[in-house]
Amino acid sequence: MSYQKEYRESIEHPEAFWSRQAELISWFEKPKTILSQDEKGFYHWFKGGKLNTSYLTLDFHVENGRADQTALIYDSPVTETVLRYSFQELKEEVSKFAGVLREKGIEKGDRVIIYMPMIPEAVVAMLACARLGAIHSVVFGGFAPNELAIRIDDAKPKVLVTASCGIEFSNIIEYKPLVDEALRISNDPPVNVILLQRPQANASMQAGRDFDWDELMSSANPADPVPVDATDPLYILYTSGTTGLPKGVVRENGGHAVALKYSMKSIFNSNPGEVYWAGSDVGWVVGHSYIVYAPLIHGCATILYEGKPVRTPDAGAFWRVISDHQVNTFFTAPTAFRAVKKEDPEAKLKDQYDISSLRTLFLAGERLDPPTYDWLEGIMNCPVVDHWWQTESGWPMCSNPMGLEAHPVKVGSATFPVPGYDIQVLDDEGQPCEPGTTGNIVVKLPLPPSCFPTLWNDDERFQKSYLSQFPGYYQTGDGGIIDEDGYVFIMGRVDDVINVAGHRLSTGQMEELIGSHNGVAECAVVGIDDELRGQVPVGFAVLKDGVQIGQDDLEKELVAIIRNEIGAVACFRKSAIVKRLPKTRSGKILRKTIRQLAFEEDVPVPATIDDPVILSEIKDAMEACGIGKYSES
Ligand code: COA
Ligand code: AMP
Repeated sequence: MSYQKEYRESIEHPEAFWSRQAELISWFEKPKTILSQDEKGFYHWFKGGKLNTSYLTLDFHVENGRADQTALIYDSPVTETVLRYSFQELKEEVSKFAGVLREKGIEKGDRVIIYMPMIPEAVVAMLACARLGAIHSVVFGGFAPNELAIRIDDAKPKVLVTASCGIEFSNIIEYKPLVDEALRISNDPPVNVILLQRPQANASMQAGRDFDWDELMSSANPADPVPVDATDPLYILYTSGTTGLPKGVVRENGGHAVALKYSMKSIFNSNPGEVYWAGSDVGWVVGHSYIVYAPLIHGCATILYEGKPVRTPDAGAFWRVISDHQVNTFFTAPTAFRAVKKEDPEAKLKDQYDISSLRTLFLAGERLDPPTYDWLEGIMNCPVVDHWWQTESGWPMCSNPMGLEAHPVKVGSATFPVPGYDIQVLDDEGQPCEPGTTGNIVVKLPLPPSCFPTLWNDDERFQKSYLSQFPGYYQTGDGGIIDEDGYVFIMGRVDDVINVAGHRLSTGQMEELIGSHNGVAECAVVGIDDELRGQVPVGFAVLKDGVQIGQDDLEKELVAIIRNEIGAVACFRKSAIVKRLPKTRSGKILRKTIRQLAFEEDVPVPATIDDPVILSEIKDAMEACGIGKYSES
């Protein structure tokens, strides 16, 4: 079917369209309604339908001839391990761990926090929660105890599942001290911790609270899938908003399964039985959707890669994995390929591997910048596809729909809206922008299946952050353009969120933390362009009157604050002391102007600034501490 026809049907007759897609998954009971609104006016898909997501990923395939087919390939260069699990084997592990959780009191609707590195047990724990109808909340391993504690306090889990360590290149990161600290500072800690001891680190255990994964598994009674309602939550995934409090994005079982199943063919052009690899982390939405759920629902083998694009052991790592496992579809973040390009600019290492199995390369997590696209286009023998989405959607919102109809590429564009998404560009007053004019990227309601129905425990914030500025539309937080041919160009966030190495972080949160330093009167954190990571956060601090602290000392202290409170993953490494910050007359800090000053010669002085000298003061401060273009010399 042509893309246009399919897209039009999805927008004009969404219920008919999604009712047809819902036929592609196996329900215990078919949905009674396709689309409904609750008393708050929030949309839900497939209400009344009964299913189980763990059943769809495992039992369904075991019952339908795929029992011995590989479901999960764990490839870990950092431990020199490769393990394969068939659908049958994975089902057995998941059933057993579901039994373990049940013995620890977990039932449908209970929350479980999973704080784990990229090991098969992370996938097992997620699917075991799904099996019981429990709600998992995976916390990325790079987050500090404070971030873990914030998520614990919001989700109120009964159990936390973890491992003794993660491995970053060759560094062993011990998780248990981080978990212990998070539980210590949390207001509502879980009753039990289940911990997998890895050979690389032995965690100390607290008797009565902490339990050993292997011991519990050895005596577990396997659990069968528990039917849940399509609108019951499968997981909560916290993502950065504009303040220190992350947003708990809720994902419902039914819409999620239907949309992911649909995406595997229509967007990724992937077929059951093939090998699908998303080089991400289970702590991010890409990991949830395209390492764990979508490939397994579709009957593909999925790869769990515990390594990096480079130095594990070299910049040929991606090509090695593709070749070793005959990967058909590969998906990663542009930053990962920028790291490869930096170390192997001519991609010479690629010649050592046969990667002819690869049909398509997909990139997301940040914009596929034209230089990286051009480089990839030059070295790959397959299409290179930029696609755009968010934690909130759970699956692509714009893409070249490779399984429907591949379109010519426009470099810098994520191509067309995916069926189900009525994407428009509005100006700040809510008026439609002309083609080619930059504005706010919005999606006309209702959002398609899988998109979040609300935020965990916070309907008000959901309404305020996403639905209030443009009534009738979901505000994505991204700015961009739709051109005269309908191609969508996503140009970056319009709020205080930045994207560092494909990781979404809040500059607002960093400002709150820096503002807590007792020498700082006020501050701004902005995302400065970075060749490897896309953006990195840089702080600009105005000192309180009379405070005497040197540039280097303040920088060290601020770096330590962000590292301890958010985690190393924030990559906050630079800050400058400035006399004043550029602001509008109403006091809003002009972060965009600061960003421009880092790279551009003639930055126009915004009309709202009374004293243009302020801009040269910022430039001088940047030069003094090597920020942006001043760092190149
Ligand atoms: N657990 C603990 N620490 C972690 C971590 C994790 N899971 N992930 C990152 N960190 C730490 C790193 O060790 C590093 O610490 P350091 O400052 O002490 O060196 C810090 O966080 C910054 O990490 P990162 O920005 O990832 O830098 P890097 O040098 O380790 O790797 C890349 C750079 C580009 C190779 C890496 O960022 C990458 O592969 N990015 C792809 C991202 C991705 O897949 N995103 C998902 C969206 S699709
Ligand atoms: P996350 O919720 O962590 O997946 O981050 C989502 C944000 O990453 C989006 O709102 C965009 O700002 C950015 N993003 C992700 N993919 C793309 C893309 N292909 N093009 C442009 N921006 C992207």
